[in-house]
Amino acid sequence: MPGIFITLEGIDGSGKSTQARLLADALQAEGRDVIFTREPGGSPGAEEIRRLLVEGDPGRWSAETEILLFFAARRDHVERTILPALEHGAIVICDRFTDSTRIYQGTARADLRKTVDALHDLMIPLNPDHTLIIDMDADAALARGLARKSGEDRFEDLGNDFARATRKGYLQLAQDYPDRCHLIDGNRAIEVVHADILTLIQRLLA
Ligand code: TMP
Repeated sequence: MPGIFITLEGIDGSGKSTQARLLADALQAEGRDVIFTREPGGSPGAEEIRRLLVEGDPGRWSAETEILLFFAARRDHVERTILPALEHGAIVICDRFTDSTRIYQGTARADLRKTVDALHDLMIPLNPDHTLIIDMDADAALARGLARKSGEDRFEDLGNDFARATRKGYLQLAQDYPDRCHLIDGNRAIEVVHADILTLIQRLLA
């Protein structure tokens, strides 16, 4: 594949989406062909599925049903947005990807990591080249996420223990995939984190 696929991961409120946007803007300003996208969503069909997933009661779906909905959205996103962009040689920056399902549904909500990995292998024909994991204190991140009152708080509403379990899951993920995963300290000012990320990505792209 001629393009480069970069994903950003982290717990809710970690600043990951802000950092993904800043990275995309900085690379675009260097004259690079960049597509910025997100999950769940990133294609018209997947954005429709997103509403089913991020709104409403925390108990609305079982972990198993959630996994299937996330993969339905992901498959559409990959087919219609990510693969065409990578085939054209773009840098695709994606706010969350399968690692979120590995951690949220496969580790923190339930013990379903093998199911998530099996579905990924069956349905998703690519892996990120680089994954930036924005690590942050779970209680501070949750407070920040909830303060946004975005109306998309289904997972934030699962509370502090859930936020701590997702953080722990991401720290383990960085050890499971050391070649592609880069742990970034998100407990710092936005501009400092951004500068760190940009230096890292410029080095990896060089
Ligand atoms: P966002 O707030 O980063 O846009 O993500 C929406 C929510 O969906 C967030 O609480 C994390 C959750 N999520 C999962 O639980 N599993 C997944 O596979 C993805 C992509 C997101």
